[in-house]
Amino acid sequence: MKVKIAVLASGNGSNLQAIIDATSSEVLKLAEVVLVIANKKEAFALERAKRAGIEALFLDPLSFSTRFSYFEKITDELENRKVDLVCLAGFLLKLEGPILKRFSKRLLNIHPALLPKFGGKGMYGHHVHEAVLKAGEKESGCSVHVVDQDFDHGPILLQRKVLVLPEDTPQTLADRILKEEHLLYPEAIHLYIQKYLK
Ligand code: GAR
Repeated sequence: MKVKIAVLASGNGSNLQAIIDATSSEVLKLAEVVLVIANKKEAFALERAKRAGIEALFLDPLSFSTRFSYFEKITDELENRKVDLVCLAGFLLKLEGPILKRFSKRLLNIHPALLPKFGGKGMYGHHVHEAVLKAGEKESGCSVHVVDQDFDHGPILLQRKVLVLPEDTPQTLADRILKEEHLLYPEAIHLYIQKYLK
């Protein structure tokens, strides 16, 4: 039986794509993506899922009275499909409520920095890379970690590093790191499954 993965995304979904691609290669052949959920209607991640024949759900946080009930709904959708592992891939809402308990130790996230540095509230997308450049860091990278109740927090599974170049802009740094993310996430998921879910 393959490990059933669900991916939560808010935007482009290039990490989702890397995971989907890896499931049909050696890297992640022990898993399949069964569901993609986005909190934004225009998220290209939904389109990527449809193209790959994967069920794609747009769930609008604005149509729920509380964040708690929103995540309750997401948790129900995950449980209805017997999802084993939930991967956040550019999902920009802070998780709340039952998902944290019911998927405890079965939730992973990717972040475009070397955590524990440059994570937390407001640290997403170009904000992360701007902060790294402003701090004069010599290296940056990406991290995959197990999710807990705090933003970009929880045990780190794997990281990949890149050099920060003198001529870097937030965009060039982001692009270089994103390429590494696409290698890191499938590898980290594979490792996690082998260690804890098999
Ligand atoms: C990625 O760089 C991911 O690490 C980042 O959002 C981007 C999503 O790209 N996540 C965070 O900043 C989380 N704090 P994608 O939609 O193309 O995968």
